[in-house]
Amino acid sequence: MPDVDPRIEGLRTEALAALASASDEAGLEQWRITFFGRQDGRVSALLRSIRDVPADQRAAFGAAANAVKVELEGALEARQEGLKSAALKALTTEAALDVTLPGRPQPLGRLHPVTQTMRDCLTAFQEMGFRVAEGPEVEWARYNFDAARIPEDHPARDMWDTIWVNTLIDGERNMLLRTHTTPNQVRVMERTPEPPVRVVVPGKCYRQEATDATHEWMLTQIEGLAVDEGVRMTDLKGVLYGWARKMFGADRKIIFHHSYFPFVEPGVEMAIDCFICRGSGSACHTCHGTGWIEILGAGMVHPEIIENAGYDSSKVTGFAFGLGVERVALLRWGIEDIRNFYANDLRFLSQF
Ligand code: PHE
Repeated sequence: MPDVDPRIEGLRTEALAALASASDEAGLEQWRITFFGRQDGRVSALLRSIRDVPADQRAAFGAAANAVKVELEGALEARQEGLKSAALKALTTEAALDVTLPGRPQPLGRLHPVTQTMRDCLTAFQEMGFRVAEGPEVEWARYNFDAARIPEDHPARDMWDTIWVNTLIDGERNMLLRTHTTPNQVRVMERTPEPPVRVVVPGKCYRQEATDATHEWMLTQIEGLAVDEGVRMTDLKGVLYGWARKMFGADRKIIFHHSYFPFVEPGVEMAIDCFICRGSGSACHTCHGTGWIEILGAGMVHPEIIENAGYDSSKVTGFAFGLGVERVALLRWGIEDIRNFYANDLRFLSQF
């Protein structure tokens, strides 16, 4: 094999040295132009010069020139890679960035505490044979009041309580944001031709309210209704007792006080024993020293309402209850102020 032409060997040595001293992207690009630039690049010129070599040496010269071209291209590529990994290494050590760390987890949402409580309540009633139904939030006065035996002059109809949504029709206000879920007693019976009826109806209700720690202008209720032959007050007590134990634990005590609601007779309010003071402290803020916390209204469905639904009130009887889900959630977690639920503060909400 003849010796490599000194011009080729000289170019090779020079190019490799220049490449080794190029220390960044710009240096490499400069090198590429110097040696491989299409017009004036020195390797390009070398290849072009092959045709001027005497014919007997041309093959050997050409082969050597091409070998150097290939070698230098490979060297450039290797140098580029080398610079890249050096830069990455500098970034990870100097900037203390660990690119192998896992990504930041995306925060996961969760159910609102009132929604959780509502679902838990519904599950407890479903396990006792109740079906879940729903009704409209924008309601006719006829269902919200008249059908529930709340007369024209009852204070609950007043602007003070009720959020009316329409202007007068024939001189009357007749559409509103429902003030309770009770209209669904009638709505469910109307679409159930024959008893038995056994439903729970969850939903938002609205009242014009001066808000405080236990009152919000929007509240979530669950209405319960059971109508059948031989339904008695003891059935009502049994169902509510079963629900209270499920929500508040096995040793809860409950008590019924007489109360008045136009749509039930007799009517009661149910309270559970105060598990903050255990009924001992007169200074307890939760039960105001009584030892009992009111949590819902209930009673036996008024016979007039049973009759209005087209059922025979001498054959069937029913019980109904209406509970405030926010109240239950307050008690369940010992929360002090109901307004926390709708203040949209994730520091509060993410605790549940
Ligand atoms: N609707 C009543 C309220 O909102 C609660 C209730 C429902 C009472 C059913 C008795 C029977 O206060």
